[in-house]
Amino acid sequence: MSSEKLFDLDKAKCVKCGMCSRDCFFGALKMGVEGYPEIPNPARCMHCQHCFAICPTGAITFTGKKAEDSLPVEGALLPSAEAAENYMRLRRSTRRYADADVDKAVLERILKVLANSPTGCNARALKFTCVSNREAMNEFRKKFIRAIEGYRNGTKLLPRWLAVPAIQMRRGESDIFFRGATGMLIVSSDEKAPGVTTPNEDVVIACSQFEMLAQANGLGTCWCGFLRLVQNEVPVLLEKVLGFRQTTPFYAMLFGIPAVKYQRGIQRDDEAAIDWF
Ligand SMILES: Cc1cc2nc3c(=O)[nH]c(=O)nc-3n(C[C@H](O)[C@H](O)[C@H](O)COP(=O)(O)O)c2cc1C
Repeated sequence: MSSEKLFDLDKAKCVKCGMCSRDCFFGALKMGVEGYPEIPNPARCMHCQHCFAICPTGAITFTGKKAEDSLPVEGALLPSAEAAENYMRLRRSTRRYADADVDKAVLERILKVLANSPTGCNARALKFTCVSNREAMNEFRKKFIRAIEGYRNGTKLLPRWLAVPAIQMRRGESDIFFRGATGMLIVSSDEKAPGVTTPNEDVVIACSQFEMLAQANGLGTCWCGFLRLVQNEVPVLLEKVLGFRQTTPFYAMLFGIPAVKYQRGIQRDDEAAIDWF
């Protein structure tokens, strides 16, 4: 978080409407004696910036951020409801990728936007580990195979679902774990950091938002649930490969330039179990 002053008010612009205090759901921001908003106890502030976003006159500067530098809601290019619905329907998992790297500038742009991914209590303790190209991804694969093949735990063997695909991957026969992807984003959280309440949800939400942004940029993606299975079964392996603690909450999304093009949406609308409570 920023070291700038938490909250500053341009009194000449403030119209004392109180919208900022009404939208401060943790009650950190109050209307002071003169009717101007203030944050008497900064420790209560969750840095959600709702006061800043809602102010009708742009009177609030929050941790040095000024209203005029924000993306304005008025006139912003947004998808229509229909476009958003079509987009959700046409999202697909891709398991065949072109032998080409994703433009790093595209990844950088997407990762910057991912700072907007919501986290419980606005804890924002996420870390984005990006395996960004073919060389790095192959290095990751090799490291992973080495960790599997070097695994020793007395007489206890690795489960077959882990040992056999690793051999096939080393031989170049198949890549069940990483689906031939040329990149992977691993989103992790620090479950011990102050204020973190929902680390497992936070990482999955960020992955899901990455998927949508990546596909909007023409990339293919596929969830890598397999890595989580590895952490559940043999957590020491990921400690070796990624340096994660054995309990580090994380999820991973594979990506790359798709080598397949889906021609239509699938039809699963009536499979959603809806219970109007
Ligand atoms: C949490 C989660 C984990 C997944 N793990 C994997 C995986 O390890 N490998 C894989 O190929 N697909 C994985 N998938 C993709 C699903 O199989 C896929 O979403 C589902 O078959 C529906 O296909 P669609 O995404 O194209 O709609 C995962 C999906 C989710 C949501």
